[in-house]
Amino acid sequence: MNSLWLAPLRGVTIRAFREAFAGPLRAAGFVGAFAPFIPANPGIRVGDRLLDDVRPFPTESGCHSQFTVVPQVISKDPAAMRVLLKGFKDRGFDRADLNAGCPFPMIRRRGRGSGLFKTPEVLESLLEAGCDEMGPGKFSLKIRLGLENPDELKALMPRINRYPLAVLTVHARTARQMYEGACDVRRFEEVAALSTNPVMYNGDVPFSFHSPGTVPFDSAAEKPFAVSHSSYGLMVGRGFVRALGGEDDAVERLRAYIDLSRAELSGDRPVLGRMKELLAYWCVWPKWRRLWPLLKICRTVDELLLVAR
Ligand SMILES: Cc1cc2nc3c(=O)[nH]c(=O)nc-3n(C[C@H](O)[C@H](O)[C@H](O)COP(=O)(O)O)c2cc1C
Repeated sequence: MNSLWLAPLRGVTIRAFREAFAGPLRAAGFVGAFAPFIPANPGIRVGDRLLDDVRPFPTESGCHSQFTVVPQVISKDPAAMRVLLKGFKDRGFDRADLNAGCPFPMIRRRGRGSGLFKTPEVLESLLEAGCDEMGPGKFSLKIRLGLENPDELKALMPRINRYPLAVLTVHARTARQMYEGACDVRRFEEVAALSTNPVMYNGDVPFSFHSPGTVPFDSAAEKPFAVSHSSYGLMVGRGFVRALGGEDDAVERLRAYIDLSRAELSGDRPVLGRMKELLAYWCVWPKWRRLWPLLKICRTVDELLLVAR
């Protein structure tokens, strides 16, 4: 159960990131990554640019052969979702994940992401379509403990258990909490005990490259991370992204991330935006915290590289 999965962080753990940081992902023993969500709406064609964010191994370079990339969809429309899932399959993927956890009001109020808590019948229709399109054990769900209160997911479990999922990933917060406040490990364990599908814990899993032993999160954990009930593994997001900034080769990898981003985006502006998003996570480290006031005001990538050097 010790497998580590990289969490989807929109704008951060994108393809260029996964390629630039393939070495550390490999060194830390990650077995795969869930890619940030792609929306599926009726009547709107998903452009190649969005789809290009996901490429199955071996096209996504640098990772080991067992590294699995799972594309993710956000939707409330089973037919539109099927179109996107077919697109994933055409690109060589045999798995896909449904985002039922996104807490942002624009998404939630339109009944997508964590908004699906309000329409369990829609959630079910998506699970049914997803399992049918991808096949049993090839579709998965990422969700929170609830929208407003942490017992909502427990109440949904009999419905979710009707579908043969690859994994049920639970971010142990409510949508109301957004990304802050304590994770509720006990509630997660209650959900896990009710699940007939494999379960994966997510939320504030501590991560360090330097803790002794082969499983970094075990020794770094200050509290138990529901390890016994995470039958599938642990999903780590921000902890891993932050840890990268403390590595000796951080600047070198930043350069690789910049090069890949330059090849993909046009002009300095979007590349800079992407780098600043990453560097904001690295500010937990004294070096980056000190440089942050300067990094923040850089107007070109070359300026940024000069400061970061
Ligand atoms: C900037 C940002 C973007 C995110 N994008 C996604 C996303 O595209 N899909 C998704 O399921 N979760 C998304 N999440 C939630 C994370 O996958 C994860 O559930 C959350 O950050 C808790 O895990 P962590 O504490 O290990 O980061 C996002 C979170 C953040 C902070």
